[in-house]
Amino acid sequence: MSDARAITELAKRRGFFFGANESYGGVAGFYTFGPEGAALKRNVEAAWRDRFTVREGNDEIEAPTIMPEPVFEASGHLDGFDDMLVECGECGESHRADHLVEDASDVEEAESLPIPEVEELVAEYEIACPSCGAALAGRSIEEFNLMFATAIGPGSGQPGYLRPETAQGIFVEFPRLKEYARNKLPFGVTQIGRAYRNEISPRKGIVRTREFTQAELEQFVDPDDDEPPLDRVADVSLRLYPADEQEDPDGEYVEATVAEAVEEGIVASDWVAYYLGVAREWYDRIGVDGDRFRFRQHLPGERAHYAADCWDAESEVSGAAGDLADPTAGDWIEIAGFAYRGDYDLSKHAEHADDDFTVFEQYDEPRTVERAVADPDMSVLGPEFGGRAGDVADALRALAERDPSAFDGDEVTVEVDGEAVTVDSAVANFRIEERTEAGEHVTPHVVEPSFGVDRTVYTLIAHGYDHDLIDGEERTYLSLSPEVAPTDVAVFPLVSDGALETLAADVVADLRAAGLSVAHDDSGNIGRRYRRQDEVGTPLSVTVDHESVEETPATVTVRDRDTTAQVRVPVDELATELERVLES
Ligand code: GAP
Repeated sequence: MSDARAITELAKRRGFFFGANESYGGVAGFYTFGPEGAALKRNVEAAWRDRFTVREGNDEIEAPTIMPEPVFEASGHLDGFDDMLVECGECGESHRADHLVEDASDVEEAESLPIPEVEELVAEYEIACPSCGAALAGRSIEEFNLMFATAIGPGSGQPGYLRPETAQGIFVEFPRLKEYARNKLPFGVTQIGRAYRNEISPRKGIVRTREFTQAELEQFVDPDDDEPPLDRVADVSLRLYPADEQEDPDGEYVEATVAEAVEEGIVASDWVAYYLGVAREWYDRIGVDGDRFRFRQHLPGERAHYAADCWDAESEVSGAAGDLADPTAGDWIEIAGFAYRGDYDLSKHAEHADDDFTVFEQYDEPRTVERAVADPDMSVLGPEFGGRAGDVADALRALAERDPSAFDGDEVTVEVDGEAVTVDSAVANFRIEERTEAGEHVTPHVVEPSFGVDRTVYTLIAHGYDHDLIDGEERTYLSLSPEVAPTDVAVFPLVSDGALETLAADVVADLRAAGLSVAHDDSGNIGRRYRRQDEVGTPLSVTVDHESVEETPATVTVRDRDTTAQVRVPVDELATELERVLES
């Protein structure tokens, strides 16, 4: 069992993660992963890639982390990606107002409340500045955009931003990615990479930072035709915390299989339900404790600007959770989001960019269909609108396809370069035509499982952190699954002795040649060397002792981290035996 302080202390002492740039005083919200943490994170990413890219048959890309401003105008991040900031009138420190309210009251998800209501709560709970203690009541709360701005190129440059989510790098490349997928839905594209958010109050070590790693999957589907392979995960059990249960003071978890969640309409989208099932299995595989895990649906006011529905995967990380059947007990952090983004992103990029964000879906047989068309009279538009006549005509044609009823009256209005332009309906020349068509353009809907890698790493440490008594002495160990543990095996000579050291070095070389990651430690007392490996979660330790060099064939002891039980294994069978145990 753990708490945030113990995890942070262990992480720093054993080289999992620590505040970055500390020699220069450090800057809040930036962390360096040390050798153990970087290896653990790499292994989490590899396990994610295996499950969400390779086994799902998706394609992975790697897009730039800096993107030009128009991308974020289109995506809505320039306008909508804000948090609530309150600045202390006394010391000038900035804080996240919704977090202060949550810390001081029973209010959950205060970010979903309107600003005036949060201002009232700050006054009602007499909330003080965490830095200097001055009262914050009466201070106005402002929206603060979380994107880091930069200038691309010399001089004033072109405005750009560090991406706040890896997803946009996939959406903007959709016109090429669909060609790569041969214009066939459904298909999925993944990306693992850095995202940047200028968080007002970074918190809890690597849980809320200003630079972090996301592993995201954008699943593009035809909402009318494509079904997920639900049978693959139909029996996976989910602990769900739907929005209506959260709004009820006596609300409870709903335990359901994926199939039940779909049949009973608890999760509205089959695709979202499918990925909740896949994620549940994946979290089990990498060692997230199922008792300290749930899927919580976003409350309506909490959803991001692009999401029609969203479920978060949450893990409990306090270690003092109390009654875990009570959804209000414990300290839960969001580790992933499963959003139904609809056609929001591709439609927005289609509006702003000069490219085709649809997929052309071929019919089995050509079909005769009725289509609304505008065929503007250019001999009138030309003299009336000069150089803009072409744009006005294009806007009329697009409107006819989108909203035929707009042509019902004597006049029709379209927007050209942000300006309303009104045209006589007769000039627009609107009509319904019969056509034979080979297929249709579909704007795919997007289902997005989006994982925070740093928070997954934090959860694995929190859930693996444990104590027991060995020979009357307390021991701390990290019960990490072998798939993600930073090191597979540690090798020690029992004492400093030439023959033992030589054999240990040979064993290390053989195990590394077999592809295992090996720590070689020959300094200090053997008990301390075991403790050190236990604390960084190394599943197995091999000790070369006197018997190893005296007997033929040579044998060594293999110690299990969790049970501390030891067995003797012949050196020439060691690599095979260790691989068997690590994979079991
Ligand atoms: N593309 C969707 C998206 O970005 P999000 O819920 O904002 O959704 C996805 O982020 C995941 O990224 C979160 O579930 C969380 O695990 C992680 N994350 C978000 N902000 C973070 C931060 N400041 N520090 C660390 N991880 C963060």
